[in-house]
Amino acid sequence: MHLLLGQTLTFTGDPFHADPAAVVQHERRGAVAVEGGRIAAVGPSDELRKAYPGAAVTDHGNALLSPGFIDAHVHYPQTAIIASWGKRLIDWLGHYTFPEEARFGDPDYAAEIAARYFDLTLAAGTTTAVSFATIHPESVDAFFAEARARGLRALAGKTCMDVNAPETLTDTAQSAYDASKRLLETWHGVDRLAYVISPRFAPTSSRAQLEALGALWAEHPEVLMQTHLAEQHEEIAWVAELFPEARDYTDVYDRFGLLGEGALMGHAIHLSPRERDRLKEAGASLIHCPTSNTFIGSGLFDMDGLMQAGHRIGLATDTGGGSSFSMLRTMAAAYEVAQLRGTPLHPAQLWWLATAGSARALRLGETIGRLAPGFEADIIAVDLASTPAIAQRADRAEALWEAVFPTIMMGDDRAIAATYVGGQRV
Ligand code: GUN
Ligand code: ZN
Repeated sequence: MHLLLGQTLTFTGDPFHADPAAVVQHERRGAVAVEGGRIAAVGPSDELRKAYPGAAVTDHGNALLSPGFIDAHVHYPQTAIIASWGKRLIDWLGHYTFPEEARFGDPDYAAEIAARYFDLTLAAGTTTAVSFATIHPESVDAFFAEARARGLRALAGKTCMDVNAPETLTDTAQSAYDASKRLLETWHGVDRLAYVISPRFAPTSSRAQLEALGALWAEHPEVLMQTHLAEQHEEIAWVAELFPEARDYTDVYDRFGLLGEGALMGHAIHLSPRERDRLKEAGASLIHCPTSNTFIGSGLFDMDGLMQAGHRIGLATDTGGGSSFSMLRTMAAAYEVAQLRGTPLHPAQLWWLATAGSARALRLGETIGRLAPGFEADIIAVDLASTPAIAQRADRAEALWEAVFPTIMMGDDRAIAATYVGGQRV
């Protein structure tokens, strides 16, 4: 048994549909008891020290013990091209992304970037990510091998594209199906790894490929499916040209069996009322990528309207269309986007999105994302005074969220004092 001491922060419910004060569990002098990679107990430090007198103790002082952050949509192969200047989506893909992704047929390069990606994100407090790989099966192997070696809960899939991409980066309907199936059978459920069926987006898949991947998903409803939806106006117009028979962008996926519970729809910014209704009815998760949506100039996600309508929503960096590896910076961007829409988010809602909310969007809401008995012990210690600028503001705080908000708005990897993966400090 290992006891971590600090301020504990976790949620018992959803602060979008309840008063944050009613669903936040905060212990000023708290403790988390960890054993065998899982959380055994959470409570006041005094009580847990009495309950487990022989336990090893690590005291994180005033740091906030929180579930590790969950990044619900990333492209680990874009690690090295993050913050590439001056393009909108379609040009950004062609100019920066595709040439970089073309390198991932080399297993050594894929392994190098996978290791770099996890180094950067663990330092930023992210303990689970859902990643697109590239079209190369080697890129999936590299990601999962690295995640497994580090004991991480991680999700990923081979990106499938058979049209409208450079020849070096295309598969076919059949090879996408075969390779995805083989990778799924190889990796899904191994340790804490999960395969995700990953058509990149409607413009880069033929009807035959979408159909093949829809069939694979029907054979394996236990896995998630991820793609991109309604990110930019030019992209939406292109989809309408490519699929004139579809009612709208959402309907393209729907027609091929790629809409349902367990679908992770990246971006989902420019949706018609019909699409919103259909996404809700189908039970898809929408993934908000705020630093990407501002960086590539995509638009302002309607968090307030979609939450009120009852959608399941996760939060993500969208590395490297997103401009940061940090979920703190991502929460800040989500706050700013919501402000621009006139519907500010409460700090509790931001923290929930980055932990329990994203976990729920990934159908992992009973496994990760909360500090509660039985949950996996992916835990971070967050220093709420990690820079002089943050420290002087937090010093004035009279309440929990006033103390946390400066770190949300101004924090980065320097705020992450410790990261535990399956109970082990990394
Ligand atoms: N749409 C299709 N592919 C991508 C990608 O790699 N990044 C982003 N932001 N949008 C996409
Ligand atoms: Zn993406």
